[in-house]
Amino acid sequence: MKPKRVRVHHLIHMKEAREPITMLTSYDALTARIFDEAGVEMLLVGDSYGNTVLGYNSTVPVTLEELEIATAAVARGTSRALVVADLPFGSYEESPAAAVRSAVRLRKAGADAVKLEGGVRQAHTIRAITEAGIPVVGHVGFTPQSESSLGGPRVQGRGNAGEAQIVDDAAAVEENGAVAIVLEMVPAQVAHRITRILHIPTIGIGAGVDTDGQVLVWTDMAGMTEWVPSFVRKFGQVGHALSEATKEYCEAVKNRSFPDESHSFLK
Ligand code: KIV
Repeated sequence: MKPKRVRVHHLIHMKEAREPITMLTSYDALTARIFDEAGVEMLLVGDSYGNTVLGYNSTVPVTLEELEIATAAVARGTSRALVVADLPFGSYEESPAAAVRSAVRLRKAGADAVKLEGGVRQAHTIRAITEAGIPVVGHVGFTPQSESSLGGPRVQGRGNAGEAQIVDDAAAVEENGAVAIVLEMVPAQVAHRITRILHIPTIGIGAGVDTDGQVLVWTDMAGMTEWVPSFVRKFGQVGHALSEATKEYCEAVKNRSFPDESHSFLK
C-alpha cells in the first residue's frame, strides 16, 4: 500500500494487512526529506534529539521550544510521512490540561501526532489529548525520560509480574485512544503477545521481530557513531563517510587543489 500521505488509518490497515511499518527519528528538514523520499512511513521528532544532536547527556533537558523548532523543520521536509513529535520531559506530567497545551504547540508546529511515555499512569493524559483532536502514540517498556527511576537503560517486562505490568500499560494506552504504541526494550515474546492483543499498531525498538513496525534512531541506523545499542543494526557507515569527505576537503584546501578553475568564476 502506497498512500500519498500516510494517515493514522493507513497504519491500522497496514497492521491488518501485516505490512511492516517503518519509522525513523528525524530532527531537521534535510534528513526528513531524504527519509521521506526513501519511503519511511513515520518520522519521529524524538527527544533523542537531545543526546544525538544537541549534545545533552540524556533526553531530560530537552525543552518544548527545542522540539517545536525541530518539528517545524521536519514537517517542512516531509510530503508523505506521518510526523510524530515527542512531548519532552516536563511538558505533560503536571496535568492533562498542561499536556493538551503542550500537544497543541507541537501540532501547530507541524506534528500529525504526539508521543508520550507511560501506560496506566498516563491514561488520563492520553485521553485528554485525544479528545482535543490530536492523535497520540504511546510509549511503554523502557522509557528514557524515567531512566533514573528505572535504574538505567534495561529491558522491561521480564518475569510474570513485569510482563503483566507492560501488558496492562499497553492496554491502557489503547483503551484511552492512542493510535499506535512504541515498545522499547521489551522481550520479544512479550512484544509479540501485546501485538496480538492490541488493535493499534505496535512499533518496536529492541522488541524483537513480531511487532507491527520498527523504529530506530536515525544516527544509529546510519552508523553516524561508533557505539550503538546492542539491538541496533548499522545500515551504513555515514559517520565514517562524512569524516573521510571532511578530511579530503581540508587537504584540498591546504594544497590548493580546491577550488580549481571549474569551481571559480572567471572574468
Ligand atoms: O526519542 C526517541 O528517539 C524515541 C525512540 C527511542 C522511540 O523515543
